[in-house]
Amino acid sequence: MQLIKTKDKLEGSLKGLEIIKEDIQAGKVNTLGLATGSTPETFYAELIKSDVDTSKITTVNLDEYVGLAADDLNSYHYYMNELLFSKKTFKESFLPNGMAEDADTECAHYETILSKHPVDIQILGIGTNGHIGFNEPGTAFDSLTHKVLLTESTREANKRYFEREEDVPTHAYSMGIKSIMNAKKIILFAFGKSKAEAIKETINGTIDVNCPASILQNHPDVTIIVDEEAGSLL
Ligand code: GLP
Repeated sequence: MQLIKTKDKLEGSLKGLEIIKEDIQAGKVNTLGLATGSTPETFYAELIKSDVDTSKITTVNLDEYVGLAADDLNSYHYYMNELLFSKKTFKESFLPNGMAEDADTECAHYETILSKHPVDIQILGIGTNGHIGFNEPGTAFDSLTHKVLLTESTREANKRYFEREEDVPTHAYSMGIKSIMNAKKIILFAFGKSKAEAIKETINGTIDVNCPASILQNHPDVTIIVDEEAGSLL
């Protein structure tokens, strides 16, 4: 694992962009794995401003809420369209379909997409409980794309985006931990004090399902980019 300590979110996002830009310009990136949440927002804004040509790159996102349609303001489809896809050209983009009729079929379908588009670089954020994608503590390390029951802490953390607490979905589709670990390179961003404990466990803790991100210690090419606050317990 490589750790990069930066001053703040902007410096960290620019550092991540630099790494990705180099790989894209070297022709190493056909597929980019993307994440949502507040963490990658600055990275996306800087990517849009940059001269990086993404027009030949396919994107695959980590997750989507079950029950939210693509045009729902709180869906990750909507987030990605608003923050990135409407402003920067990609070859094609995939996210799990939150409105799929059958969960098993949708998860198998998403795994087929991932096998056709193996991820060269996966961007990750991290939940305060160490979750990656929506893989909550306890998720098997060999998991593939699956339907997840969200924990109370995750629903609590994400309720800021919803009008009413009861609107926060109870389930999501998420790439599994094995699906994430299949990426050739992983860049995890963590910004802010609320992530400090999870980052400490991820880097210095034992590899344990109770901190899903701790499995990244076993990946051959992971870069963790933190700001001062998220790195404060290291
Ligand atoms: C959600 C997403 C994760 C994200 C996490 C942290 O649960 N599924 O991909 O990393 O939230 O969110 P934030 O970046 O807003 O702190």
